[in-house]
Amino acid sequence: MRHPILTLGLVLGAIGAGAQSVAQPARGVPTVRLAITLPDNPTTGARVFVEKGCARCHALGGDNRRMGPDLGRIRLPGSVLDLAGAFWNHAPVMREKMTDLKIARPEFNDREMADLLAFLTAYRYYLAEVGGAGNPVAGREVFRQKRCASCHGDRDAWNLPGPSLERYRGHVSPIVLAQAMWNHGTEMAALMRSRGLPFPQFDGGELGDLLAFLQAGTIAADERVYVEPGSPRRGQELFAAKRCISCHVIAGQGGRGGPDLGAPERQMMRPVTAIAGSMWNHSQGMATEFARRGIPPVRFSGQEMADIIAYLYFVNYAQVSGAPSRGQQVFTNRCAGCHTLGSASVIGPDLRVAPRLNDPIAIFTAMWNHAPRMEQELRRSGVAWPRLAPGDAADLAAFLLSQRATAVPAAPRPVR
Ligand code: HEC
Ligand code: HEC
Ligand code: HEC
Ligand code: HEC
Repeated sequence: MRHPILTLGLVLGAIGAGAQSVAQPARGVPTVRLAITLPDNPTTGARVFVEKGCARCHALGGDNRRMGPDLGRIRLPGSVLDLAGAFWNHAPVMREKMTDLKIARPEFNDREMADLLAFLTAYRYYLAEVGGAGNPVAGREVFRQKRCASCHGDRDAWNLPGPSLERYRGHVSPIVLAQAMWNHGTEMAALMRSRGLPFPQFDGGELGDLLAFLQAGTIAADERVYVEPGSPRRGQELFAAKRCISCHVIAGQGGRGGPDLGAPERQMMRPVTAIAGSMWNHSQGMATEFARRGIPPVRFSGQEMADIIAYLYFVNYAQVSGAPSRGQQVFTNRCAGCHTLGSASVIGPDLRVAPRLNDPIAIFTAMWNHAPRMEQELRRSGVAWPRLAPGDAADLAAFLLSQRATAVPAAPRPVR
């Protein structure tokens, strides 16, 4: 496989930011939406990862011999703030190991932190995008069971209604397969109907296995098709442009007819082939509905398919809600010993007025940068490191932003 950091085309950059709005009751407590922009620029975070020395202790898939956990393998939690929280929780141990190895402890500006967190999130997407996870033996069975073989033949067959899929051998990207299947879906569906075959549905890893089966074999490098990795931000625009939004609600915006793809129980952080499979499963229902309304069927270029899948993968990354009331408890229990909000502070700064803390990422950047002093103070008073459980980081950010003296920008409205 190509070296991930060098070829990483995927990940993102800009997580913009700001604060909140939109009170909505969730889990019984009022929550606010935190303003975080979807990432776009693919490579920036990979560079930060290398330049800040993370790669000296952390592998990204494949190499477990380094001091820190392999960040390509562990399942990093859902939203960007949960990830920021995990990073914060481990700060003292990492600081200690950096001292041992005489590595300077890196500091970040907001942009670098945003890029880095997006990179870590996207890394799993990247691993899935280049493939390799499917099982070719199971894939052969899928190919047979879903009746693909009855039209496409199993390898070099001839005289069949479907074209040979031989040219997919070795094509590394699941995006390419997803795009070809999607664009030819209507013709295939018609032929299937005429032969009394059901329209195939893919569960979980089936499309990934099928891909592995089609890929198996040797190919010349110049035959490969590379698609520039997806941009979640562009995908969000396509989601509107291709009228997906006319049936799907995301973050409270959109039409009826389809499920809310951002609903927390609908976990979209799945391998690329799994996302592509669930799009395929309902492609004909969608085509029928469009035909009924006189709208031409949706087609995707390879890049568009990559972008839309990247958007679905990241759909909840930037959609973070926090509960100020729970955040207040976290603050009281873990921070208020040193920090105040709007009154003179003895140990740490007054977080109501400390400059540049008007967006969620900025808060965690500042916390990371100031962690060594906080650690000293904690040690002096014999208090344990204030660890954040999943969800705490978003609640804490929602609370702190609600307390700021200066107005904080509102959450952006989704692109329509
Ligand atoms: C000197 C070695 C070292 C360096 C450099 C380092 N880390 Fe770590 N990192 C560790 C160790 C060791 C752990 C596990 C800490 C623990 O168990 O508390 C860890 C844990 C983590 C975790 C938590 C993983 C989990 O399971 O939740 C994240 C995220 C992380 N590091 C990211 C980074 C990033 C990003 C950088 C670069 C800015 C970095 N690390 C630099 C050693 C390092
Ligand atoms: C009823 C026959 C039939 C079945 C079953 C069928 N296909 Fe097809 N497939 C076709 C035909 C016909 C085309 C060409 C359609 C066109 O020209 O638009 C095609 C096109 C394709 C293409 C694009 C080929 C290219 O040259 O780019 C792919 C990929 C594909 N099918 C995959 C599959 C997979 C995977 C399955 C099983 C899940 C499957 N097909 C099942 C008939 C079928
Ligand atoms: C005509 C209405 C309609 C349109 C337009 C539409 N969808 Fe859907 N979508 C649905 C319905 C209904 C379901 C759930 C039923 C099903 O699985 O068939 C669904 C399900 C999905 C799922 C599966 C969700 C899951 O949990 O696995 C994905 C992903 C999806 N749609 C993406 C898209 C994308 C991307 C577009 C735009 C290219 C789009 N949809 C356009 C109606 C629509
Ligand atoms: C033991 C005392 C202590 C605790 C507990 C503590 N901090 Fe701090 N904090 C400090 C000190 C001291 C500084 C200033 C560090 C410096 O100047 O480098 C600081 C700095 C900060 C900053 C940077 C402020 C700026 O001006 O940019 C933020 C944000 C912050 N803390 C948030 C928190 C949060 C959130 C918690 C609870 C999870 C917390 N701190 C817990 C002592 C503490």
